[in-house]
Amino acid sequence: MKISINDILIDNDIYPRTRKSQQTIDQYVEALRAGAQFPSIECQRISIDGTEQIIILDGLHRWEAYKKAQPELGENSDFSQIEAHFWKDEVLDKKENLNLLRLRSAALNSQHGDRMTNADYQSLAEKIARDDPDHKLSSETIAKEWGLRPRTVRDWVQSIRAKQKAKRDRIIFKLSMLGWSTREIAEVVGIDYSNISRVLQNGEIAKMQQAISDWLSQGKTVEEAAEKLEIDATLAWAIHLCGKSDIERLADLGVSLKLYDDWSFQGCDARLGISYPGRIPGQLVINTLYYYTVPGDLVIDPMAGGGTVVDACLLMGRKCYAYDIEPVRKDIKKHNIEASLPPGSDECNLMFIDPPYWSMLDEQYSDESVSSKTLDDFNKWLEKLASDCYVTLKPGAKLAFLIQNQTEKNIPEGKYYLDHVFTAQKNFVDAGFKMVRRINCPLSTETFTPQREAKMKGIKITERSEIEGIALARYYPKRLKRLHYWDEFSRDLYQFKKYYDVALIEKLAKGLAEVLRATGRTFDIATHPPPSRARLYYPCSHLAQIVSTELDLDLLDCLRWAGGKGESQKKRVGRMKLARLYEAVECTSDLSGLDILLLDDICTTGITLSKCQEALKFAGAESCFSAVLGWTVSEDKSGFKRAF
Ligand SMILES: C[S@@+](CC[C@H](N)C(=O)[O-])C[C@H]1O[C@@H](n2cnc3c(N)ncnc32)[C@H](O)[C@@H]1O
Repeated sequence: MKISINDILIDNDIYPRTRKSQQTIDQYVEALRAGAQFPSIECQRISIDGTEQIIILDGLHRWEAYKKAQPELGENSDFSQIEAHFWKDEVLDKKENLNLLRLRSAALNSQHGDRMTNADYQSLAEKIARDDPDHKLSSETIAKEWGLRPRTVRDWVQSIRAKQKAKRDRIIFKLSMLGWSTREIAEVVGIDYSNISRVLQNGEIAKMQQAISDWLSQGKTVEEAAEKLEIDATLAWAIHLCGKSDIERLADLGVSLKLYDDWSFQGCDARLGISYPGRIPGQLVINTLYYYTVPGDLVIDPMAGGGTVVDACLLMGRKCYAYDIEPVRKDIKKHNIEASLPPGSDECNLMFIDPPYWSMLDEQYSDESVSSKTLDDFNKWLEKLASDCYVTLKPGAKLAFLIQNQTEKNIPEGKYYLDHVFTAQKNFVDAGFKMVRRINCPLSTETFTPQREAKMKGIKITERSEIEGIALARYYPKRLKRLHYWDEFSRDLYQFKKYYDVALIEKLAKGLAEVLRATGRTFDIATHPPPSRARLYYPCSHLAQIVSTELDLDLLDCLRWAGGKGESQKKRVGRMKLARLYEAVECTSDLSGLDILLLDDICTTGITLSKCQEALKFAGAESCFSAVLGWTVSEDKSGFKRAF
C-alpha cells in the first residue's frame, strides 16, 4: 500500500533511535534516483485523546530519503508516496499500548539497517520499565524481542524496578493495616496473593518501626524519618503509632480532643488526605473515631474524595474501606452510592459520609456525582440514603454525616439559603436513627478571631455559613427501656459501689495510676465535688487520693457545685442539663497554665465530666484530660445519650 510521506509522523516517545545517520539517508537518496526499490516501511494508526495519527515504527532512513528526494522532482513525483504496511489493522490507543508499540518498534529496528546503539536500547528499556509499574513486561521478554541478553536488560532497569517494588510494598503495608484481605490487596496491586503474604511476612514493618524510633531518639521528626526511609509521612506515622492507645496517638499526633460541640481547626492536617475539592480537616475525623469507635473497628467511607477518612483510620488503628464514584487513590475503590451502599456497610461500626454539599463544587466532581442533580432529586436521594443506611447498618453501628448549608450559589428564588443540615438531620431521624450529637465544624475561614467577632456585631446570624456535622447511633425504642448492665470491668465497680468495697477501689485505682504513668505526662489532679453531704464515703475523693499518691502529683480541691451544697443529686442533674458553661460547676481557683487530670469513678452519660471540664477550662486550665475507672454500657451499647 502507498501512503503519502506527509501523512506519516515520528513519535519520539515510541521510536527507539535517538539519532539518524545522514550518510545512510544520502546513500538511500542516490539509490532511489538510480531506480532502486526498498522494502516497505512499517507504520501504525494510533489515537491520542481521540485524534488519529499514522506513526512510523520501522524505516526512518527510507522515509527520510523519500522526503529528501521528493522536492527535487515535484508534487507528483514517485517519491511523494512510500510503500508501507500497518503492524495492526485496528487503531491502537497510544496510552494503552505504549509499551507494546515501543517493544515492536525497537524489535524491527534491531533486525536490519544501521545498528541501534546500546544507549538507544537502554533509554527505551528504562522508559518501558517506568511506564510499567505493575511489571507486565519482564526483562526476559524485552531481551528476547530485541535479541539481547536478559541480564543486560535487567541491569538497566534494576534500580527503577527496585523503587517500584518498594512503592508497591508500601501500598501493601497500608492496605493490610487498613484491614484488607490478601486477596483484596492482590486485586489492587496486580500481583498474586501468595506474594502479598510474602511481602507482609518479610519483617519490613518492624524494621521500619525500629528505624523511625532510632531516628526520633536522635531528636528528628517522623517526617524526617519518612524522607530517609523514602515512604510517605502518613505511612511513617501509622507505623510509628502501631500498638499505642488512642490517647497516646492523639498526643503524639498533636491533635487536640474537642470537648465541646464546636470543632474548629486551623486548616487541614497534611498527614490526612490529599489536596482535593471539599477536603475536610482530618482532625475532625480523628475526633469522631476517638469518640465513636474503638481500635480495630471497621469504618466505611462511601464518598471518600481525597481519602481523609482512610488516612485518619490508618493513624488511629481502625479498619477502613473507602469508595468514590471517581477514585483518585489506590486505597479507594470505585462505587456509585446511588446504586447501593458499598460492600461492607452491613458490617461496619461507623459509616462516615461527607457528600457534596449539593451543587457547591459540582464543576469539580464527576458528571455522575450527586452534586449534578436538581435540588429536588438531591433531596430525594438524601431521603433514600437515610433509609438505606437504617436498613443496612447493624444495631449499635454509628453514622457520621457531614454537610454544610448552602448560601453562595444556586439559591432558589425567595430563599436566603438552603438548610441542608436540617434536611439531612430530619431524614436520618425520620428513618429511625437516634441523634446522639450535633457538632458545628466551621471552616477555618469561618472561625472568627475576637477582633473579627467584635466587628461582626450587628450582622445577621444567617450571614454566617457553617459546616455542621451530626453523629447518630442506631436506636431501638423497645430495648431502650430495659435496664443497662455493666460490662466485665464495670461489674467489679458495681460490686464496689453497692458494698463500698474499699479494697477493690484501691486495686482499681492503682491500675488506673499504672495506665496514667505510661502516658509519661504530669498533671494536677481534680475531681468533681462530693455528690451529697449525706454520704460518709466519697469514692472519687478516695480514688483521687490514691492516684495522686501513686504518681506523686498535686491534688486540687477547686470544684464546687454551682447549686450549693444542699442541692439533691436529682435536682442537680436536672439543672446541669439546662445549665450553660460555668453555671453547673464552679472552679474556685485560678488554674492558668495548668494541665489538669479530672478523675471520676464511673462515666455514664459523661455530663458531670464535661461540665467539670468546662469549669476547669474557664478557670484558665491549659489542658484538661479525664480518666475514669469504667463506663456503663447499655445492652445494645448505644442506648445512652452520651454527653461526649
Ligand atoms: C465533599 S467530597 C469528599 C471529600 C473528602 N471527605 C475529603 O476530605 O477529601 C464528596 C465526594 O463524593 C463523591 N461522590 C459524588 N457522587 C457520588 C456517588 N454517586 N457515589 C460515590 N461518590 C460520589 C465525589 O466524587 C466527591 O469525591
